[in-house]
Amino acid sequence: MVQFNRKNLLGLEELTAEEIELILDTADSFKEISERPIKKVPALRGVTIANLFYEPSTRTRMSFELAEKRLSADTVNFSKATSAVVKGESLRDTAENIQAMKVDVVVMRHSSSGAHRFLSEFLDASIVNAGDGQHEHPTQALLDMMTLRQRWGGFEGKRVTIIGDIMHSRVARSNIWGLTKMGAEVTVCGPTTMMPPMIEQLGEGGITVEYDIRRAIAEADAINILRIQLERQKSRLFPSLQEYFDVYGVTLDVLEAAPREGIVMHPGPMNRGVEIAQEVADGDRAVILEQVTNGVAVRMAVLFLIAGGKTEGDEPAS
Ligand code: CP
Repeated sequence: MVQFNRKNLLGLEELTAEEIELILDTADSFKEISERPIKKVPALRGVTIANLFYEPSTRTRMSFELAEKRLSADTVNFSKATSAVVKGESLRDTAENIQAMKVDVVVMRHSSSGAHRFLSEFLDASIVNAGDGQHEHPTQALLDMMTLRQRWGGFEGKRVTIIGDIMHSRVARSNIWGLTKMGAEVTVCGPTTMMPPMIEQLGEGGITVEYDIRRAIAEADAINILRIQLERQKSRLFPSLQEYFDVYGVTLDVLEAAPREGIVMHPGPMNRGVEIAQEVADGDRAVILEQVTNGVAVRMAVLFLIAGGKTEGDEPAS
């Protein structure tokens, strides 16, 4: 039987296919807890979790908090704007102070790629990556994969096209690692200015790069549309939002080029009318809110496997 013996979740690059499968299986078993009248199990009773968000977040932050509460963990929240960071305190000092308060798990979002690996070198607490710069967003990819697996049953032979700002996307990187490890084929599509060099070598066995949106989705079983991250662009990488929409926006017309009836996904927050048309975002093929629902179960699974899964007597769902 596969064991999850990791102290931290820093990214999907470092996980095996068996470990990813274990997280998805555990998330499947946790999902029904959120359907109960009393949405709570004692699996992480006595565990203290600090949520450190150095960047804004709606979905990730709320679903980690809900996951923690549904597993009966004790939680504390930190946001950059209301912390001593504004007085100049460093990441290391902040983290060591939080650890001095005997926190067991640190869930962190940070704008610097590698911030979590840096902390993992000196913190005793477990670290869960809730998004680091342009590097990885592992729980987002896991919830995307949970949503796909619920539809497909597995990943072998399935094709996923990721469209948009690949350059700045930690969601793309984590999805590429996770999906290729599980046997899916990945194509990325976007303007050349948003395509990082050597992206075709990323993932297990590499991926396909396509610049024409209709060709990119022609064989897709799922289309994952990324947000244009204007806040991370040091210079404008396309002439105007309207021109981006005209060339790379996913509209109903564009979707007609996908005869395999590909599922439409978006990690959120969406820029409607920029990377995705209103009718597509709210259309029959979209599973965007299903992704959000699965996010709570995936985060419950990750926290349980890291902080509680090895405790004798704990069961995933009771
Ligand atoms: N998908 C995602 O990470 O959304 P938030 O920025 O709202 O957490």
